[in-house]
Amino acid sequence: MTKSSVKSPRPFQHLESDGPLCCGQVSLESLARRHGTPLYVYSADQIMERLGLFQKALTGRDHLVCYAVKANSALAILKLLADRGAGFDIVSGGELERVLAAAPEAAGRVVYSGVGKTPPEIDLALSAGILAFNVESEAELELLAARARKLKTTARFALRVNPDVFAETHPYISTGLREHKFGIDIRKALAIYKEVARNRWLAAYGISFHIGSQIRSAEPFGAAMERVKKLLRQLAREGIALQAVDAGGGLGIDYHSGKFDAAAKVREYAAALEKALDGFEGRLLIEPGRFLVAQAGALVARVLQVKRSGNKTFVITDAAMNDLIRPALYQAHHEIVPVRPRAGKARIVDVVGPVCETGDFFARDRKLAPLEPGDLIALLDAGAYGMAQSSNYNTRLRPAEVLIEGSKAWLIRRRETMADLLAPETF
Ligand code: LLP
Repeated sequence: MTKSSVKSPRPFQHLESDGPLCCGQVSLESLARRHGTPLYVYSADQIMERLGLFQKALTGRDHLVCYAVKANSALAILKLLADRGAGFDIVSGGELERVLAAAPEAAGRVVYSGVGKTPPEIDLALSAGILAFNVESEAELELLAARARKLKTTARFALRVNPDVFAETHPYISTGLREHKFGIDIRKALAIYKEVARNRWLAAYGISFHIGSQIRSAEPFGAAMERVKKLLRQLAREGIALQAVDAGGGLGIDYHSGKFDAAAKVREYAAALEKALDGFEGRLLIEPGRFLVAQAGALVARVLQVKRSGNKTFVITDAAMNDLIRPALYQAHHEIVPVRPRAGKARIVDVVGPVCETGDFFARDRKLAPLEPGDLIALLDAGAYGMAQSSNYNTRLRPAEVLIEGSKAWLIRRRETMADLLAPETF
């Protein structure tokens, strides 16, 4: 514990003042030597701890934490979470295949969201016996009923309602307003539940919502839940008793400060949901992604060159926007720290990758300790939407991934090879 009694939000620390940055007990220098760079490094300990925070905060109620697979879909991470009782929120057949590969026993703890589910994807999910489909339109509900009928089974569903709540976040990741493509207008939901109540291929399991991502305050979650609670009451009056409410994901982290009390954040979030849910005895599902894995991960890169141009200094690294696109796509901030800090005056620099786009940057006009070619840096809070959004742009091989538990390091994905990349092509 630090003086402020807030535990560091990140598992990356210098164990000795003149030593290298470590993840748990493991030096990032030794990992870079062994596995090369760019390299994603994740702390299993922190991921488990964060899952535990949600589970603990919700102990008073029947609940299920459905990890949003899209945040980081590494099989080893899915398995780690499944072994500790997590469920999963998926948005594609591909993500379901991942869950089935890593933890087939968790199929019954999967909820399936997304605005464009295809018949084969729906069939796969029905056959796997997932917990529920979060249905985003009337047309999708019809399609779901048709597929369930074909497979002679019953599809459990929750309507994903759009509570029309504004959440302060980046416009690309805000989803809870009527003008967004997600969900069903909450005012229409009652009529839809009534209409399908007697459909033998459909079983109304719950209501779901997801208002956006990287939301720092608990307040909009509570506000959305209040609206959903009203709907639950109306449904109950009509004799439709739902078993579950799914509050989606979206709880944000602090990408800037080293002082962020994750436990307090989770308690505040859970309390806001609970307060709004008061009187509802059913199950609460949540779908956190970022909060579970973002701060557990760092992207380790090596400095290739330091280039001075006019009055700018560019630190060019071997990682690029194809490895971590968040700064380029959302103007996102990621803290950057040298793995072994050098003495000397901090300088204002741009940290950029080798990709041929001006948008290929990790930081602009950032004050950083001196860096030289060959030095290692860590881009922090990169565990969520980092590797998951990576690509092969510029025919770059995607990084390897290592998972750390205490003093053990485990290569969970080897670096891609040119053979991997060229395999699907013919000419
Ligand atoms: N549930 C649903 C239905 C979602 O669409 C999402 C995220 C989540 C749960 C998980 O949200 P989280 O707890 O991770 O905020 N690539 C962006 C974030 C996109 C989020 C999309 N949906 C980024 O890097 O910030």
